Amino acid sequence: MLRTHTCGELDHGHIGREVTLCGWVDTCRDHSGVLFVDLRDRYGRTQVVFSPEGGPENIEIARSLRSEFVIAVTGTVAPRPEGTVNPKLRTGEIEVRARRVTILNPSLTPPFQPGQKDLPGEDLRLKHRYLDLRRSEMQRTLFLRHRMIKIMRDYCDELGFIDVETPILGRSTPEGARDYLVPSRVQPGMFYALPQSPQLYKQILMIAGYDRYVQVARCFRDEDLRADRQPEFTQLDLEMAFVEMDDVIGVIDGLVARLAKEILGRELALPLARMTYDEAMERFGHDAPDLRFGMEIIDLTDLAGQSEFRVFRSVVDSGGRVRAINAKGAAPRYSRKGIDELAAYVQQDFAAKGLAWFKVEDDGTLASPIAKNFTPELLQQIARRTEAAPGDLLLIVADEFEITCKALYGLRKRLGAELKLYDPKQMHFSWVVEFPMFAKDEEEGGWAAMHHPFTSPRPQDREFLATDPGRCRALAYDLVINGSEAGGGTIRIHDQRLQSQVFGLLGIDEETARQRFGFLLDALQYGAPPHGGIALGIDRMVMLFGGLTNIRDCIAFPKTQRATDLMTGAPGEVEAKQLRELGIKNGR
Ligand code: AMO
Ligand code: AMP
Repeated sequence: MLRTHTCGELDHGHIGREVTLCGWVDTCRDHSGVLFVDLRDRYGRTQVVFSPEGGPENIEIARSLRSEFVIAVTGTVAPRPEGTVNPKLRTGEIEVRARRVTILNPSLTPPFQPGQKDLPGEDLRLKHRYLDLRRSEMQRTLFLRHRMIKIMRDYCDELGFIDVETPILGRSTPEGARDYLVPSRVQPGMFYALPQSPQLYKQILMIAGYDRYVQVARCFRDEDLRADRQPEFTQLDLEMAFVEMDDVIGVIDGLVARLAKEILGRELALPLARMTYDEAMERFGHDAPDLRFGMEIIDLTDLAGQSEFRVFRSVVDSGGRVRAINAKGAAPRYSRKGIDELAAYVQQDFAAKGLAWFKVEDDGTLASPIAKNFTPELLQQIARRTEAAPGDLLLIVADEFEITCKALYGLRKRLGAELKLYDPKQMHFSWVVEFPMFAKDEEEGGWAAMHHPFTSPRPQDREFLATDPGRCRALAYDLVINGSEAGGGTIRIHDQRLQSQVFGLLGIDEETARQRFGFLLDALQYGAPPHGGIALGIDRMVMLFGGLTNIRDCIAFPKTQRATDLMTGAPGEVEAKQLRELGIKNGR
């Protein structure tokens, strides 16, 4: 070893010892001929002092040190002079009086310093990721990620899950995103698809009798990226045989509790709360509600229908809904202009037609330009139902149910943050269950799988497959943390006929089903046990447990919104020869 200790471990117990440290020069300060260098490695920082007594040669070299030089220093551990002790630093009691210094490697002047207070733009950090990863925040996050994955693996191991790797080069797996394709050289014109998830392999493993499977699995999805989405991300992927929904949820409850205890030092009360999808849409307008604060959606359809307000009446008459949230005490904070901004927000972002509102006056009456359309009794009823108190602001959206959901969900989220209705450090875990089997496919018409096509309907809803697919609820469950979907899974179909029926409903004809999923349909006929599973988004979990808002900060080498790796420049051009070998014409 080039070093005897790390930069994060020396304290008063080492005083008098001769040590050698290696690391990066964090800062250099010259105090009238005495040089102070903060030396940094992944373990911490240690102050190194170069003084003339250490030898003229050394001080010469020390003077040439610059930020991010890699050096080795040998010297004696000494107590820091009175008044210079830094209690915040693990090594804050001591300094190393240098006797010998070697430059292991100089550094160019870095475009930013890992220790600097204000962060440079993200593009610069991603381009020089090796510098960015030297920042203590990045290190903390990657260590957190390591610890969380270790806890996940240990936990699953204790429960008898076996880690099995599944192929990266495979066939398309329908998780609803676009595939990344890899051309085959040996079979020109043929393509592999990178897995959107190991979904079918893990089901096959259950059919093969492995009973409990786990994998820290890389998934690839060519979809529009957002703050919580990457084209390449990691799941904790699980599958279990001979289970029902409660069993899978129970395993994950235990895992979440273990993570909360070991990472946050918090005891979670189990089982975690559950809510059905329908309830989540009614109360919060979304299938991943943020339960850290109230401000639930209140239905006013019946009352609105009795008013003289044309907008409300016509929405009610055409089967729509009139729903509201009560922003408690928010009336003074939102002027006419502020409310107009909220209205513009729901119109632009959620295609709502407008935003009606009432401010609750000191005497409890509801004031609004639209109030004249309501009898005093009706206003009173609205006030009672919304539990309106002086200073409250009622915001109302009248529209088709889906639009009221989206708009009020968006408003609730925005107001929750603007009014600081929760502590951002607080964490809330819960389940949303009983999702619909199908959603209307807006692009192609017909039905699309809400989760994926291998999801089992609730036994009591099976008859709706033939009569009213929209009513059919699935044995599906999502883990929700702070309003984010942290994981999702289902009990699978293990009956080949039912699987074919569901394919049929999804518009996958028999021939296509054979061609794409023939292996699954076959396997289902060779003794498939009842089975189910789940996948947790590890990057998202790290983001949530780390109190971060950007998924890129949780991944060592992430991609930008345009799916570029700014450090390596991927995706990049390839040689014409490579394309020829693959039988691909240069299409541009
Ligand atoms: P699903 O598609 O819901 O289920 O994915 C599971 C979890 O993975 C995370 N996730 C993502 N994280 C980052 N970037 C993305 N682009 C991204 N997409 C998804 C989410 C999500 O909850 N095979 C099924 C699981 C199963 O049924 O067992 C599946 O992949 O946190
Ligand atoms: P109007 O009668 O169109 O001038 O609208 C009067 C008020 O009702 C305005 O504040 C609009 O933003 C609001 N409004 C219009 N359409 C809707 C709607 N669908 N839901 C809620 N408020 C609406």
